[in-house]
Amino acid sequence: MDYAPLIAKSLEMRKAAYAPYSQFSVGAAVLAESGRIYGGANVENASYGATVCAERAAIFAAVNAGERKLRAIAVTETPCGVCRQVMREFADPKSFEIVVAKSAADFRVFTLEALLPESFGPEALA
Ligand code: THU
Repeated sequence: MDYAPLIAKSLEMRKAAYAPYSQFSVGAAVLAESGRIYGGANVENASYGATVCAERAAIFAAVNAGERKLRAIAVTETPCGVCRQVMREFADPKSFEIVVAKSAADFRVFTLEALLPESFGPEALA
């Protein structure tokens, strides 16, 4: 896979973050099965627990656009546990790729299975 467009979008999305409390801006970009890319950035809240991470913002944008299968995500930070579980809902853990990218040249790639082993997913409830 050519990670460059996905990484570029995640870096661009960082500028959209609303992070007045942590000053920690995160950008993410999801590649869906359709081939489309959806971006997201973290949105904080005065009630800190209501904050939404960049990864979930991007995933929810994709799902709200009708996507149900996601292929990969690029993000400027290592994803938190909650976001890994949300990825699991719409991804095959063995093939879904998580690209943790500091820049176009400095990135690491993991499968979802590597970052969320022995996971619980929707098929358990089918
Ligand atoms: N954050 C993300 O958006 N994604 C991550 O992968 C790690 C953390 C956000 C949440 C909060 O707005 C800020 O970064 C500090 O935790």
